[in-house]
Amino acid sequence: MAPSRAATKILRPTLRPTTRLTTSTFLSLPQIRPISAYGYEQAKVLGLSTLGEPKDVLRLHGHSISPPHNDLLTLRFLASPINPADINQIQGVYPTKPTFTTSLGTAEPLAVGGNEGVAEVISKGNGVKGVEKGDWVIMRRQGFGTWRTHAQTTVDNLVVIKDKEGLKPEQVGTVSVNPMTAYRMLKDFGGGLKEGEWFIQNGGNSGVGRAAIQLARLWGYKSINIVRKRESGMEELRSELKGLGADVVVTDEEVESKDFRDQVKEITNGGREPIRLGLNCVGGPIVNTMAKLLSPGGHIVTYGAMSKKPVSLPTGLLIFKDIHFDGFWVSKWSDRFPEQKEACVKEVLDLTRQGRFKDVPMDPVTWNYDTKQEELVTAVQGALEGFRSGKGIFVFGET
Ligand SMILES: NC(=O)c1ccc[n+]([C@@H]2O[C@H](COP(=O)([O-])OP(=O)(O)OC[C@H]3O[C@@H](n4cnc5c(N)ncnc54)[C@H](OP(=O)(O)O)[C@@H]3O)[C@@H](O)[C@H]2O)c1
Repeated sequence: MAPSRAATKILRPTLRPTTRLTTSTFLSLPQIRPISAYGYEQAKVLGLSTLGEPKDVLRLHGHSISPPHNDLLTLRFLASPINPADINQIQGVYPTKPTFTTSLGTAEPLAVGGNEGVAEVISKGNGVKGVEKGDWVIMRRQGFGTWRTHAQTTVDNLVVIKDKEGLKPEQVGTVSVNPMTAYRMLKDFGGGLKEGEWFIQNGGNSGVGRAAIQLARLWGYKSINIVRKRESGMEELRSELKGLGADVVVTDEEVESKDFRDQVKEITNGGREPIRLGLNCVGGPIVNTMAKLLSPGGHIVTYGAMSKKPVSLPTGLLIFKDIHFDGFWVSKWSDRFPEQKEACVKEVLDLTRQGRFKDVPMDPVTWNYDTKQEELVTAVQGALEGFRSGKGIFVFGET
């Protein structure tokens, strides 16, 4: 909701702005948005008090945000994706835990779910510099909690998107994790790829995979993309990824065949165009197959474990082919190189604006003031299912 309207509408139902609102307060009221008065915002968050399966632990909680003063600014969220890591974090199987706090008015500490998103600055304290009302911001680091309608914070937690012209919230809200991961993995391992060189990846249709395909094409690298065989829609997926710039799209079954090894020899000009990089977000035996296709001295970079299967390797790959096995975690990279992150975000958003970088297919879930908890929780729980048509993303409407 636009802030100017917030200031002019009547508070319905009547709530004093100083009332601390809880979920139970909200649930006992008719589902009419209690319009903010005097700059107070009535916020909702999707959060958890204990770790576990999203369907068991996530709940919607309402609270009130007072007008910002000094260095505080108030944000209204526009779009927040549901990434696999967000779910792993809720399940308690991720290296960083959610940020639990009692500052949202709950008796037990509550953590807001989600780590990525874009928000609009709707008001700011007198001491805030470098950000204006109406600017869009993304989160500087993990742990902010982005599945929420509003938040109040300081500018050091944010990256300001200076030029939002020509961009959709869904594009800005998904730029800082997947495209950054693909970008850095292509550039930072084994001295980076050179024009005309190849990489091979599994999860070719994942958010990261699609970003890698597109960046590679822009930078003159070639890609072999492995996707899971599906009962229907295989050819559509193949041509969709080729449309993004994939040179080869192959199923996890096809890649295991002897024919495919011969095919690889052929497409890489008898091996003269090296495959120097492998990107792995799946794990299990397929990594072995990928590593065998690499040129001597190549790197396999693991960044995810979607199959939950371990990677086991014939030692000959290490001894005789000198294949390197590395890992990459974008959160750690972003914390270490905040300026580089800003530059990369800007570069990818510029490419997006120019139509040279496409966002992933999305499965939006509209989050309005009266959206029910069940609908939001179902969207989160469903995000880890395989063979999805698009990435789950909360898109905020009338909140
Ligand atoms: N290390 C980092 O910094 C970093 C950064 C970003 C993402 N990641 C990780 O990268 C992975 C992909 O993330 P994303 O956001 O790009 O995901 P996404 O867009 O949701 O795509 C998920 C991918 O995983 C595949 N998949 C799902 N279940 C699978 C299974 N049981 N076995 C094999 N493949 C399966 C899907 O293939 P189907 O379509 O065939 O189901 C799809 O290709 C996640 O593990 C995520 O945590 C890591």
